[in-house]
Amino acid sequence: MFDPDCVSFLQQILPQLHLRWSGFRRVRRQVCRRLKNHFLKLGLENFASYRTYLFDHPEEWSVVDACCRITISRFYRDAIVFEQLCQALPTLMQLGQERRDSSICCWCAGCASGEEVYTLKLIEHFRLSSQKLFLPLHILATDIDEYLLSRARRGCYPQGTLKELPQLWIAQAFDLNQQYCLKSVFQEGIQFESSDIRKQMPDGLFHLILCRNLVFTYFEPILQQEILQGLLHRLVSKGILVIGKKESLPIEGTSQLIKLSSLGIYQKR
Ligand SMILES: C[S@@+](CC[C@H](N)C(=O)[O-])C[C@H]1O[C@@H](n2cnc3c(N)ncnc32)[C@H](O)[C@@H]1O
Repeated sequence: MFDPDCVSFLQQILPQLHLRWSGFRRVRRQVCRRLKNHFLKLGLENFASYRTYLFDHPEEWSVVDACCRITISRFYRDAIVFEQLCQALPTLMQLGQERRDSSICCWCAGCASGEEVYTLKLIEHFRLSSQKLFLPLHILATDIDEYLLSRARRGCYPQGTLKELPQLWIAQAFDLNQQYCLKSVFQEGIQFESSDIRKQMPDGLFHLILCRNLVFTYFEPILQQEILQGLLHRLVSKGILVIGKKESLPIEGTSQLIKLSSLGIYQKR
């Protein structure tokens, strides 16, 4: 479905939500489909009539905002990024030891159904726990979407979501019961919270922040800049920021960061 009416609708309304069209170009079909299903249920015929309805019903903006959420995720997404992060994590543990911290504090911003969060827990268990300077991970995982968070708390997934994980990890970490459900030991040390990163960021300092495939793809540049400042503010000195493999940071603010990898891994100076 290529729908010029939907494209022009999105180009008009996305800026009002502080989102940018260029981030949505590739994924517009699913957004258009959701919007169309929604306005048909309202008894409206096309995007033009929905636009009029939207401007007459301010409460409708939250529905459009929800329709514009891209929720794709999977375990070990972009495996090479996690491989590179694994190289950096022992240094982070050493930093934690030097700072006399009792754990490595991580924040996953836009955690979807928890795939990224549990990937960190699997890495902790299978790759890090036997290391000399090991510190446990404590993860705060936030997302705007309550339904995704409830799935994340449950920790059960269809097989397709796991396809990038090593088979041995799947065999040892999941119980198969219609879906693949994480064993409870992999669900410890994680706090899932609902929050809209445009309005609110957590208190406290983090050694590691993952903010992948959200802010630096879908948000407008000024908001990216603001949120980057918020992320930097919450990162300890020498802490690590991971953004999406194909994302780039706004220029301003990056002077505080050293690029560790061209795949979106940065260290705060
Ligand atoms: C494409 S997924 C990325 C998931 C994961 N970080 C990854 O890279 O696989 C984007 C996630 O951001 C969430 N999200 C969208 N807008 C948000 C907002 N304003 N605040 C917090 N989370 C948001 C969506 O619900 C979705 O779960």
